[in-house]
Amino acid sequence: MTILVTGGAGYIGSHTCVELLNNGYEIAVLDNLSNSSEEVLTRIREMTNKSFMFYKGDLLDKDFIKMVFQKNRIEAVIHFAGLKAVGESVQHPHLYYQNNIMGTLHLLEVMDQYEIRKIVFSSSATVYASSQPMPLSENSITKAINPYGRTKLMIEEMLADYYQANPKWSCVVLRYFNPIGAHQSGEIGEDPNGIPNNLMPYLTQVAIGKLNELKVFGNDYPTPDGTCIRDYIHVVDLAKGHIKALNKVQIESGYYTYNLGTGGGYSVLEVIQAFEKATGKKVPYSIGGRRQGDVPICYADTSTSKMELLWQATKSLEEMCKDAWNWQTQNPNGYKIIDHATLNSNN
Ligand code: NAD
Ligand code: UFG
Repeated sequence: MTILVTGGAGYIGSHTCVELLNNGYEIAVLDNLSNSSEEVLTRIREMTNKSFMFYKGDLLDKDFIKMVFQKNRIEAVIHFAGLKAVGESVQHPHLYYQNNIMGTLHLLEVMDQYEIRKIVFSSSATVYASSQPMPLSENSITKAINPYGRTKLMIEEMLADYYQANPKWSCVVLRYFNPIGAHQSGEIGEDPNGIPNNLMPYLTQVAIGKLNELKVFGNDYPTPDGTCIRDYIHVVDLAKGHIKALNKVQIESGYYTYNLGTGGGYSVLEVIQAFEKATGKKVPYSIGGRRQGDVPICYADTSTSKMELLWQATKSLEEMCKDAWNWQTQNPNGYKIIDHATLNSNN
């Protein structure tokens, strides 16, 4: 039996594929490579010494999804595929509703048709309403404030409705907090297109000299050092959470929601300090204005995932920084292979 991983070539998906293969699962990866590279799949095969099928194609193409279900004995789906840039979603809402909502609807329709009703879905802490008491539990109030967040919330509600309509469905929604870091081998990691939006990839690109300095978005928040606090979680801890979620959908039907975070938070300045300590690299930074949409503090209550999924994050902020830096230094151009022969012949 095979676990279908949509978006398995992406940042979190690739780390989860490694955990799945190392735990003896057979997998098939479906990805349109719109935000990833086929090189990651080669690396996963090398790291795990395991083979698996890769289907390059789009969730917007229902016949393509059907073909993948026809060719494999799929038992459950881990659904990562989606667009995730908040700013882009504000500029191009149609793209987000079409890709994330339509893509998921197609997937669920084909799953239903093939009577495969076990799904683990990538949601986000962004679904929680701002200005509420911390830590955020799964029962905290939800309210998305941008199209990206709304697609996550809508898909959560869709899954709840599917279960309501047919109790054979087994759906686990995982609300990720702030995944950072990379596999400790340095073989796979986060490879953003263009200038990164998120703190850790921006910080590592400053540390390696690709970008001049980090701008800290505001130091006048109601936090001890004035900078925003987030619940950063090592991507490998997050990937392991998916194995637990998969165990859950394999053994019982239902609709469940879990936070995947560490249960604590660090400020932007604390992250910079931890990075400098873990790597010995200085990070030039300056304080800038607030970024629109940022909440001062966000961290998870992880007691339900501990109790029901039997999962908890184990890696420290220093390990997250060390592994992010290891990935950055081993792969200064991410997955892009620089062909030096061509470069030289063009010069
Ligand atoms: P990613 O962009 O690295 O991976 C997503 C993958 O999905 C990419 O490989 C992309 O090519 C693929 N994809 C997108 N649309 C597709 C489509 N229509 N058909 C087929 N493939 C498609 O992102 P990630 O950071 O690995 O995030 C994975 C999931 O987790 C996403 O759903 C994201 O919204 C969610 N999430 C991410 C974060 C984060 O901080 N990284 C936080 C919360 C939630
Ligand atoms: N920050 C800076 N400078 C930067 C980048 C970020 O100071 O150049 C700060 C931000 O202001 C914030 C913190 O670093 O205080 C973390 O910012 P990120 O952009 O790394 O992460 P966010 O918490 O804003 O958002 C992330 C994902 C969202 C997801 C959310 C909750 O990008 O998709 O976590 O899961 F919805």
